[in-house]
Amino acid sequence: MSSVVESKFDPKDMVFRHLGPSGLKVSVLSLGGWLTYGGTQKGNIVKDCLEAAWNHGINFFDTAEVYGKQANGESEVEMGNALKELAWPRDEYVLSTKIFFGTGRKEPNTRGLSKKHVVEGLKSSLQRLQQPYVDIVLAHRPDVGTPMKEIVEGFTQCIQNLNMAYYWGTSEWSAVQIMEATQIAEKYNLIAPIAEQPQYNAFHRERFEVEFAPLYEQFKYGTTIWSPLASGLLTGKYNDGIPEDSRFANNKSFFEGTIKALQSEEGKAKIAKVRKLTEVAEKLGGSVSSLALAWCIKNENVSTVILGATKVSQIEENCKAIQLLPKLTPEVMEDIEKILDNKPAEAPSFGRKR
Ligand SMILES: NC(=O)c1ccc[n+]([C@@H]2O[C@H](COP(=O)([O-])OP(=O)(O)OC[C@H]3O[C@@H](n4cnc5c(N)ncnc54)[C@H](OP(=O)(O)O)[C@@H]3O)[C@@H](O)[C@H]2O)c1
Repeated sequence: MSSVVESKFDPKDMVFRHLGPSGLKVSVLSLGGWLTYGGTQKGNIVKDCLEAAWNHGINFFDTAEVYGKQANGESEVEMGNALKELAWPRDEYVLSTKIFFGTGRKEPNTRGLSKKHVVEGLKSSLQRLQQPYVDIVLAHRPDVGTPMKEIVEGFTQCIQNLNMAYYWGTSEWSAVQIMEATQIAEKYNLIAPIAEQPQYNAFHRERFEVEFAPLYEQFKYGTTIWSPLASGLLTGKYNDGIPEDSRFANNKSFFEGTIKALQSEEGKAKIAKVRKLTEVAEKLGGSVSSLALAWCIKNENVSTVILGATKVSQIEENCKAIQLLPKLTPEVMEDIEKILDNKPAEAPSFGRKR
């Protein structure tokens, strides 16, 4: 029997970027499983979505120990089953999971970032995923109850001693916390995180664009951004109310505040902006979804934009962002900026340059 591995991945016109300072290359569009896989979607549809993404040149998939309808790791089970069935060569795709929230259990050590939960949580994740390792494990939130040195040691142990991951990262950490972890890693010869998973989209910009700027400059810190379509708001699907079988309809209690906010003056102003962005997108021959995603990719500090999709058709639509990207000229970007009217002010430099 030949041990030669037959390549199955065709990158098409996908763009790839290094994940932060690492040598790892990820497609600028990736696919995640929050609220979708193991949430509203199970079985064949999960496999079909992963396969559609792969067929568009997506090589990076994201999940978390907490994802799933009952917050119990079902997303890892569903995505793991799909990956097993698809049987792609393991060196052709990149997989991440996230540890912090646990799987809904109430015991004191089954959540957080203690060395115990980082190691044991990741071991359980790998079992659910049916994988010997993930490429990246992320700390899903900061844990102010665990010393930072212990957190960095826990992730170093996963990578160096246990071969359960190649890299680690952070999610929704502040710039200060990321700097602290990086400096501790340097001081004690431990492994530093390489990327943050923050929310970033046309309506949510401040932290990504301003607070994190020193991290890009000093550490080339990478980013795997989430909710690039603001949970669907930037597709235009909520312009005239909440459609049936949409995220807001299917997860009413979770999005109660968001749904209410849409009725406010601020919410109505956002919908008006989505309508104007739709006009820009149509002039460029695309949809507002693909425009909103291309706008994220246009920012070089974005390593990858994690898509969420309940249907194959959404993946087909959203991957058109790659074709739209070259059409985002400085003039178009300026038009978009005028519509958004929410560019965060840069941190003051008092006339000094780095
Ligand atoms: N680290 C964290 O704290 C964190 C938090 C959240 C997410 N994430 C990661 O980021 C990933 C993406 O986040 P997200 O799912 O919130 O992304 P999103 O792109 O903002 O929202 C995705 C949802 O919008 C709807 N949608 C997407 N494309 C559409 C289209 N073309 N037309 C109509 N509707 C469309 C779908 O929901 P419906 O069809 O149900 O309406 C889809 O599930 C997650 O899967 C997860 O991996 C991480």
